[in-house]
Amino acid sequence: MDNAELRIGFFGMGSMGSALLRALDAAPSGLALRASNFDASRREALGAELAVAVSDAADPDAQADLAQWSDILFVAVKPGGVLPLLASIRHALRPETLVASVAAGISLGALESALGELQPCARVMPNLGAQVSASATTYCLNPACTARLEALLTPVLARFGSALRLPEQHMNLATAVAGSGPAYLLLAAEALIDAAVAEGMPRKSALKLVQVLFKGTGQLMAEDGSEPAALRWKVTSPGGTTAAGVAHLEATQLRAALAGAVRAARNRADELA
Ligand SMILES: NC(=O)c1ccc[n+]([C@@H]2O[C@H](COP(=O)([O-])OP(=O)(O)OC[C@H]3O[C@@H](n4cnc5c(N)ncnc54)[C@H](OP(=O)(O)O)[C@@H]3O)[C@@H](O)[C@H]2O)c1
Repeated sequence: MDNAELRIGFFGMGSMGSALLRALDAAPSGLALRASNFDASRREALGAELAVAVSDAADPDAQADLAQWSDILFVAVKPGGVLPLLASIRHALRPETLVASVAAGISLGALESALGELQPCARVMPNLGAQVSASATTYCLNPACTARLEALLTPVLARFGSALRLPEQHMNLATAVAGSGPAYLLLAAEALIDAAVAEGMPRKSALKLVQVLFKGTGQLMAEDGSEPAALRWKVTSPGGTTAAGVAHLEATQLRAALAGAVRAARNRADELA
């Protein structure tokens, strides 16, 4: 396998598959991309937009060919579809192909039960930030995945954003915090915009303000490196406007709501296993 022409295949070109493909297509040097999906209009649209060769997921020979071709094979279908799909293409896989499932809840043990424990497997949890190469991705590997294969995988994950290896026992929690996390933050953004509009601000202005607010706060956290609380204290003057707003959020249990969201999402990931 030559790193200069790494072949990356995708089963599934939905929300996550297309976000990952877009991230790879944005910096495609050294990669060859192929993908399959059922929906013809989606295949045509993404095939025209990105440098990716597409095939029909309803064609078993094309599915087997994609599996056989890939050095790294991403599985980006709904969790319930992963194991039947893997069982159907298992015969076509090369022994050294790394199968990387991005499905919530599907364990390495379940992947091995479909593929055999000698097949190198990764469980990868990206998030929607991948679409702009800013995913907070986590991953874990089965024992068949050698250091050489991990060294092939990690630069690919780095093109999605950041990549952190975790013990598998933390993957459902990472799913609940970072995989689902964009939806929590987007809900908060939506609520801030709606609140500004309700108080009289034009929607376009409120949207622009909140877009920059989220970008700036994220960048500040990443670049400063301090705990969020320390940054928050810097902008919370005693008796000021921010203190009044934060006191309301504390009184109305924002922390408990977020903790409950993480618990509910992790429980759901446990159920999908
Ligand atoms: N969305 C997220 O933010 C996110 C974050 C982290 C992880 N994930 C994981 O990513 C996976 C995909 O989620 P999603 O949100 O992208 O779902 P999605 O939008 O429904 O995309 C799944 C795609 O896979 C296609 N597909 C189904 N079976 C296939 C097969 N055998 N071969 C090739 N393509 C097939 C589907 O086609 P049809 O629709 O035509 O059937 C659909 O376009 C899930 O397992 C999820 O847990 C998602």
